[in-house]
Amino acid sequence: MRTIHVKTASADYPVFIGRNLLAQVARHVQRSVQKSAARSTFVLTSPEIWALWGKQFLAPFPKGQQPTALFLPAGERFKRLAQVERLASELAEAGADRSSLLIAFGGGIIGDLAGFLAAIYMRGIDYIQVPTTLLAQVDSSVGGKTGVNLAAGKNLIGSFHHPRAVFADIDVLQTLPDRELRAGLFESVKAGIIRDAALFRFMEQNSKTILAREPAALERVIVASIRMKAGVVAIDERESGLRMILNYGHTLGHAIEAATGYRTLLHGEAIAWGMLAALQIALARNTVGSDQAERIEQTILAYGPLPPFRATPAKLLAAAGRDKKNRAGTRRFILPKGIGNAVIVEDVMEAELLSAINWTLAHAHK
Ligand SMILES: NC(=O)c1ccc[n+]([C@@H]2O[C@H](COP(=O)([O-])OP(=O)(O)OC[C@H]3O[C@@H](n4cnc5c(N)ncnc54)[C@H](O)[C@@H]3O)[C@@H](O)[C@H]2O)c1
Ligand SMILES: [Zn+2]
Repeated sequence: MRTIHVKTASADYPVFIGRNLLAQVARHVQRSVQKSAARSTFVLTSPEIWALWGKQFLAPFPKGQQPTALFLPAGERFKRLAQVERLASELAEAGADRSSLLIAFGGGIIGDLAGFLAAIYMRGIDYIQVPTTLLAQVDSSVGGKTGVNLAAGKNLIGSFHHPRAVFADIDVLQTLPDRELRAGLFESVKAGIIRDAALFRFMEQNSKTILAREPAALERVIVASIRMKAGVVAIDERESGLRMILNYGHTLGHAIEAATGYRTLLHGEAIAWGMLAALQIALARNTVGSDQAERIEQTILAYGPLPPFRATPAKLLAAAGRDKKNRAGTRRFILPKGIGNAVIVEDVMEAELLSAINWTLAHAHK
């Protein structure tokens, strides 16, 4: 088992990465329950994940001390305030109080919603992340961003609320659908491109073993991705500067997700398209050399296939303008500046964006 400490201005917690970690979750909870005797524990999960892993999750807990399971149906359309209210009511009815502990056991949707529920239930209770998708392990479970969607856009309601601990169990990834695995791996490729050249090279050279879910290869990718994110969040917890580099590929990626109604592509796939698009801007500006750009493109594609999608340039342009990360009047982009290095630029012109959009649509329409 490997441990990475996330240390920010407001939080300090361990992220454990390894195999057979579900037993450790129970042990950790037991210890924290002993410290505060009346503490009741709850686990938020989905029916599908519970059917696959619920038994293994509960087995290490002593009889009578097992967490009470609460459920959120799978799908982005359930990451909404109405579900937060329903679940808060269920917590209240079950007698949850300020000392209660919530465990998020699922992908990024469960983690984001559980974290937000924990942030506001009785003005804040403790929670633990047990991410079950690769994306949640390498990205969403670390860093303290929690929240839900509005009809007007994704993640528009939320708060910063860090977990007390994160347990990334590599074994639970064995049941993850292949497409979900690849979608998460795009965020790890992103981590390599923006800040970790060694991770990039490992992913460049070992796509077969990684995609075959060889545990040692997965562990290496997960550990490096989390270490990168933890390092960035330690320096800039609230995204006032450096943390923005984590949004490489996300300006156009979010626009593609919005323009396709969040139905055609998984988040990681949209981000992969967005990374390729931003790479075109970087190439045109000579921010990145063509040989390095070629390696970046090939490595992203090695974790494909990238599903095609349809959208009009006008729709993508409008959606990119709406991205909440843009300041009024300017278009901010994260551009790769060689492998393992990225820059934040504020002055991307509409014409540059449009030519990147046209490049993307020409490749995505196949
Ligand atoms: N908070 C952050 O910093 C942050 C960062 C990135 C993404 N996110 C959010 O994360 C969400 C996406 O998360 P995701 O990609 O994990 O998707 P997800 O939570 O929808 O999970 C994907 C699918 O995999 C299934 N699943 C999960 N674990 C499984 C397992 N072990 N075996 C079999 N099936 C399994 C789920 O039931 C679901 O159908 C988005 O809402 C996004 O906004 C948040
Ligand atoms: Zn992302």
